[in-house]
Amino acid sequence: MEFSIKNGNPENQAVDCVIVGVFESGKLTDAAKSIDGASSNAVTAVIKSGDFEGKLSSSAVLHGLAGVTARRVLLVGMGKQGEFSEKQYRQTVRAAVKALPKGVASAGFFLGEIDIKESSTAAKVAALAEVVMDTTYQVNAIKQKKADPQPLTSIVIFVDKTDNAQAEVGLKQGLAIGAGVSLAKDLGNLPPNICTPTYLGEQAKQLAATYGFKVEVLEQAEIEKLGMGSFLGVAQGSVEPPRFIILQHLKGKKEQKPTVLVGKGITFDTGGISLKPGGDMDEMKYDMCGAASVLGTFKAIGELGLAINAVGLIATCENMPDAGAIKPGDILTSMSGLTIEVLNTDAEGRLILCDALTYAERFEPSAVVDIATLTGACVIALGHHPSGLFSNKDVLAHELLAAGEAAHDRAWHMPLWEEFQTQLDSNFADMANIGGRAGGSITAACFLSRFTKKYDWAHLDIAGTAWKSGKEKGGTGRPVPLLTTFLVNRAKNSAASGK
Ligand code: BES
Ligand code: MN
Ligand code: ZN
Repeated sequence: MEFSIKNGNPENQAVDCVIVGVFESGKLTDAAKSIDGASSNAVTAVIKSGDFEGKLSSSAVLHGLAGVTARRVLLVGMGKQGEFSEKQYRQTVRAAVKALPKGVASAGFFLGEIDIKESSTAAKVAALAEVVMDTTYQVNAIKQKKADPQPLTSIVIFVDKTDNAQAEVGLKQGLAIGAGVSLAKDLGNLPPNICTPTYLGEQAKQLAATYGFKVEVLEQAEIEKLGMGSFLGVAQGSVEPPRFIILQHLKGKKEQKPTVLVGKGITFDTGGISLKPGGDMDEMKYDMCGAASVLGTFKAIGELGLAINAVGLIATCENMPDAGAIKPGDILTSMSGLTIEVLNTDAEGRLILCDALTYAERFEPSAVVDIATLTGACVIALGHHPSGLFSNKDVLAHELLAAGEAAHDRAWHMPLWEEFQTQLDSNFADMANIGGRAGGSITAACFLSRFTKKYDWAHLDIAGTAWKSGKEKGGTGRPVPLLTTFLVNRAKNSAASGK
């Protein structure tokens, strides 16, 4: 799909469809007024007929208007003018894309003229590009009959001429996030017999070749050398060999300490010997979405050539039950030296992450953020809208919360209080890998916190946000928008402070 920025009047555009907005109770935007004026009040007539009222996400297609070059005009409802903000703007764009008739290959958007508080032209254009990519995403289904290709191939975003430079900046950012989200969705949606740890390693190498990252993909023997006994414990029940991936994007100042992202890459989680129930187990192919979000975010910052030092770490393996698998009662020695009594082999995410978090120490990071589909308990606590956020540093937590708000990819701050730590006590090892049913997402975070004492750290539990179930089953690409925005803001701050 091609995106471009242009200037001009809606009635004069040689595109298959122009899109203009109308507020509830029929109040026309300037673009809608232009069309109305050029077409002897065709827009007003539709509203008068009662067919279209401008309710948020509603739409109407007008064909062959005299005085309008484009063969179609899509009226899209923007809801109450007083309530219109960036959220409604995104909803409007989404509704418009969904309402485009099948024959439309090129669409001209005239939705940017409305002033939104605290939203610049750059932000609006970025949001438009991101939402269009999200809405038109097609899964690469493995079917004999290929899906029809996306008919929409050209998106033209109309802005005021004085805003051209800003709009281009926004477009670049929106497309970068869109590309990162698409990659994360693709990886999540792939079947687990294709998207194996080896495959993720290959993907990392490909990204590195495209964007000039430094990359290392460690295999079993090298992971053993590092002493990652906890990670390897999880991997030992599978015939698929594990991988430990290290990506480095070093475009910041030489002395700038890197921001490290750590992804959980369980390419399939059966639960291991503590086997999961069968219903919906296929969805555990999405248990590598933390890893996918790291790769997606690296794609986005690679596209942007972002001036920052960032490191991506991915621990990836399968969690399978077999004769060689770990079993409840086994004690593993982590890379940190701390020992772990495995009381439930299904609490495997923390077992692979703890070694990756210890590995992160060597980068003397300015911050470490891990991303993991870690607990079903997080879904019970927060549902499917926010990701769960835990941190040992309030400033970092607020940085991530703000990035999530700005990116419309929100997180919610959860407690990481000392009081929860005793739930992990073990009579036989330094800690147990589970802390009982109460506060399950918190005790999981508490477990990780024991391996992150040497740096500022945050943990995003994306169990409820990384994919959708049911009819709409599919990866969401979250939290790539949050993470990319977080890094973009860090790059801006470092440029401003000269550090
Ligand atoms: N990958 C799962 C978490 C999960 C489950 C995410 C369902 C999304 C939907 C994780 O490895 C897991 O199994 N966690 C256990 C932990 C428990 C054994 C303490 C869980 O949440 O049940
Ligand atoms: Mn599990
Ligand atoms: Zn898991």
